[in-house]
Amino acid sequence: MLTKKIEQTKKDFTTEFTNVENSSDLEKIRIKYLGRNGTISELFDRLKEADKKDKPLIGKNLNLLRNEITSQINEAKSSFSKQRKSETQSLDLTLPGKKYQIGSRHILTQTLDEIKSIFKSMGFSVHEGPELESDYNNFEALNFPEDHPARDMQDTFFISEDFLLRTHTSPVQIRLMNKMQPPVRAIMPGRVYRNEAVSARSYCMFHQVEGLYVDTDVTFAELKGTLVSFAHQFYGEDFEYRFRPSFFPFTEPSAEMDITCFICKGSGCKICKYSGWLEILGCGMVDPNVFKCVHYDSEKYIGYAFGMGIERIAMLKYGITDIRVFFENDFRFLKQF
Ligand code: PHE
Repeated sequence: MLTKKIEQTKKDFTTEFTNVENSSDLEKIRIKYLGRNGTISELFDRLKEADKKDKPLIGKNLNLLRNEITSQINEAKSSFSKQRKSETQSLDLTLPGKKYQIGSRHILTQTLDEIKSIFKSMGFSVHEGPELESDYNNFEALNFPEDHPARDMQDTFFISEDFLLRTHTSPVQIRLMNKMQPPVRAIMPGRVYRNEAVSARSYCMFHQVEGLYVDTDVTFAELKGTLVSFAHQFYGEDFEYRFRPSFFPFTEPSAEMDITCFICKGSGCKICKYSGWLEILGCGMVDPNVFKCVHYDSEKYIGYAFGMGIERIAMLKYGITDIRVFFENDFRFLKQF
């Protein structure tokens, strides 16, 4: 009786299996035959009705049938899934190609690269220092008096009593001179921070390039010559310049360099506040007090230093009137350069 049923099940399965067309058909017959309440387990349940002497043979046949069905179903399952994969992976060669957006260097990077290459061609090397700086390197070694307004919480982001986010790249001068003996001729680019209200003209973070040249016979004329040559290489020939006396604690004498306004060519406009001039950098001869802090002999050595804001330099060159656009990553702005 059971043996017959096994034979019948085998036949039924074969017929149904040949009619399977897709994986959901397959799943249906898997449940029908191999499921918990399926035909095979029903037959196993009925094994107990068989004669004791027939049981081993029937049991063996039942096992064979179950294995056979299982392996056929598994094989079919894997061939369905392979088929699906190759269908989804098939290529339509008539589709238009994907357009790749090619990025470009940020305008500040481009400006800095240009500044670097000009100074490198004049014999300057490039050095960098950390943005988190000691109060000593940022102020004290640079001859800032104790009560200088820049040392106030209003202007500087202090991390602790002794550490801060550097407010300029001048502390890298100190680091470099502590490490090297003259002659030193280097530029030091980097990010600086000031606790200022954000507006079109100022941002709480920006970039500077510091310059330093120390040797036994450096002159103010050389400083001027170097900066004028830089400005001509960067801005072209079509401008005039002037040096105005100024003050920085770490240089003496100090000056600021102006060039004629690009917008109005010197006749006066909103950008240059109707003066016809735009300030591009601060500079001066290194104060002997700074040399004292780095143990340079100020009787023997003399040097000049300068510092410029990269955003400002780029704004003047490209006629950008709002500093915030450098940091907003608006594609419409970035794409122009
Ligand atoms: N550190 C000065 C500033 O941030 C610029 C400067 C650098 C001036 C070197 C003189 C010499 O304004």
